[in-house]
Amino acid sequence: MTADNALELIREDLDKVEKALLENIGSGVPLINEVVSYLLSSGGKRLRPAFMILSSRMCGYSGEKAVMLSVVIEYIHTATLLHDDIIDGAKYRRGMPSANGVYGNDIAVLCGDFLYSRGYITLTEWGDKAIQRLLSSTAMIMSEGEVVQLLKTADINITMEDYLRIIESKTAVLFSSACEIGARLAGLSEDKCASMASFGRDLGLAFQMSDDILDYLGQREKTGKAPGTDLKEGKLTLPVILLVKEAAEEEKKSISRIFTNDARDEADLKYIVGLMEKYSVREKSEDIMLDYISGALSRLDDFPRSEYRDAMAALAKAMIHRQK
Ligand code: IPE
Ligand code: IPE
Ligand code: MG
Ligand code: MG
Repeated sequence: MTADNALELIREDLDKVEKALLENIGSGVPLINEVVSYLLSSGGKRLRPAFMILSSRMCGYSGEKAVMLSVVIEYIHTATLLHDDIIDGAKYRRGMPSANGVYGNDIAVLCGDFLYSRGYITLTEWGDKAIQRLLSSTAMIMSEGEVVQLLKTADINITMEDYLRIIESKTAVLFSSACEIGARLAGLSEDKCASMASFGRDLGLAFQMSDDILDYLGQREKTGKAPGTDLKEGKLTLPVILLVKEAAEEEKKSISRIFTNDARDEADLKYIVGLMEKYSVREKSEDIMLDYISGALSRLDDFPRSEYRDAMAALAKAMIHRQK
C-alpha cells in the first residue's frame, strides 16, 4: 500500500476534518478568523489527524470523535506553528509568507493563543477526562520543548540526548497523543494504548529528524519553508550534531565560530551544507531516522492485521523519503 492509498482509505474523514477546521474557528473578531484561515487554508499535510483517524479505525473505533479530536490536534499544531514561526523568525510557511510576516508578531501570537483555547473547547465537548488530560499535558510539554531548545541555542556541545529530549517534547508527544487517542477511543487496554503511544513517539522523533534534515538539505519549492532557518537561528539539530562528530579539528572550529557569531548568512549555510555533503551527513541522519521508523513499525505487531494497520505502516514508511 502507498501513502496515497492510505490517505484515500480515510478520505471521507479527512474531508470532514478539513471542513470542521474552518467552520469551527468562529471568532467574533474578523481579523482572528482571517489570520487563522490564512494558515489553515494554505495547506498542511494533516498528518496528525491522519494518524489519529487511522489509529482509531485500526483499533476498532468507527465514530465521529476521531474527526473532532483531530480538529483539536490540528488546532494545537497550528497554534504551535504560529508561535514557532515568531520565535524562529520564519518568513515562509507552507509556501506562503508566514502569518507573522503578513500580520506581525503581536497578532500572530494572540491568534495562536486563541487557537489553543478554541481547541480546548472542542476537546471538552468530544474527549473524556483521560483524553482531556493527555492533550492538555501534551501542549504543556510542547512549550517546554521549545523553551529547552531556546536554552540550547548555539550550544555546540549539545548532545544527542539533549536533542532527543527536545524533539520528543516539541514534536513527538503530539504524534504520540494522536495515536494513543485512537486506541483510547476504541476502549483498548492500557497496554495497547501504550503501544500506540510508542508508535507515535518513534514516528514523531523520526518526523522531526527528517524535518531537520530538510531544513539544511531540502528544496524550498517542496518544503514551502526557507532553507537554513535552523542555522540562522543557531539551532543545533541532528545533521549538525552528526557533522560535528565527523568533521576535522579545523572544520569543527569553523562550525563552532559560525554558531557562536551574532548572525549567520548564506555563505555560512553554503559552507555547512558543503561539509554535510563531504561527510555524507544526509545518509547518516537518515540511518538514525530509519531506526525510529523501524521502532514504530514494530509496535504495529501488537495489533491484528487490517487494511488500517497497513495504511499506518505505509504512511510511516513514507516519512523516510519525504521531501515536504
Ligand atoms: C511542521 O509540521 C512542524 C514540525 C513538527 C516539524 P508539519 O510538517 O506536519 O507541518 P504541516 O502541517 O504539514 O505544514
Ligand atoms: C517544530 O520545529 C516546532 C514545533 C513543534 C512547532 P521546527 O521549528 O523545526 O518546525 P518548522 O521547521 O518551523 O516547521
Ligand atoms: Mg520553526
Ligand atoms: Mg524545522
